[in-house]
Amino acid sequence: MDMLIALPTLPAAPALPDLQIRKPIGPEHDLIASWVAHHFSLAWASEARFALANRPLTLFVATRGLPCEPVGFCAHDATARGFVGPIGVLDSARRGGIGAALLLACLHDMRAMGYGYAVAGAVGAPDFFRRVAGAIEIPNSTPGIYAGLLRASPTAP
Ligand SMILES: CC(C)(COP(=O)(O)OP(=O)(O)OC[C@H]1O[C@@H](n2cnc3c(N)ncnc32)[C@H](O)[C@@H]1OP(=O)(O)O)[C@@H](O)C(=O)NCCC(=O)NCCS
Repeated sequence: MDMLIALPTLPAAPALPDLQIRKPIGPEHDLIASWVAHHFSLAWASEARFALANRPLTLFVATRGLPCEPVGFCAHDATARGFVGPIGVLDSARRGGIGAALLLACLHDMRAMGYGYAVAGAVGAPDFFRRVAGAIEIPNSTPGIYAGLLRASPTAP
C-alpha cells in the first residue's frame, strides 16, 4: 500500500537533544550504503546510493554523540520521483522520536524543492506515517510502482 502526504501543512521537525540530522558529505557515502545494507536490506542500500547520487542529494542521516555512528536514515526521490523513503532507525534507538525527526526533515526538504505532496511507497509501518505526517492510504496502490520488481533467483551467482 502506498500513502499520500500533503506537504504544505506539515508540523515543524522536532529538535531532539544530542541528535544531529544532516545530509552526508562525500567521504561518508560508502559507509552509509554499507550501514543500510547491514542493518536493513540490499534494496534499501540501492535506494540510499540513488539518493546520494541526486543533486542536491536527497538523504538525511541521524547521529547521536561520539563516535558519530549513524542511528537512522531517511531518503527521498530514491525509489521514484516524489517518493519518500526508505526510512530506518536502529532497533535499539526506536520509539524515541528519531524516526519522526528524520521523516519530517525529508518531507520539509521535498517541500523546499517544490513538491506539494509526497508518496510513501509500499508502507510497512502505516501508523507511523499517519501519526507523524498525516499520511492517508492511496486506494488500489498495490503493487503500484513495484509491479515486476527484479528479484535474483535462488541459483543466481
Ligand atoms: C518505522 C521507524 C522508522 C520508526 O522510527 P522510530 O524512531 O521508532 O519512530 P518515532 O519514535 O519517531 O515514532 C513517531 C510516532 O510513530 C509511532 N510509531 C513508531 N513506530 C511505529 C510503528 N512501527 N507502528 C505504529 N506506530 C509507530 C510512535 O509511537 C510515535 O507516536 P507518538 O508521536 O504518538 O508517540 C522504525 O520503527 C524502523 O526503522 N522500522 C524498521 C524499518 C521500517 O519499517 N521502515 C518503514 C518502512 S515503510
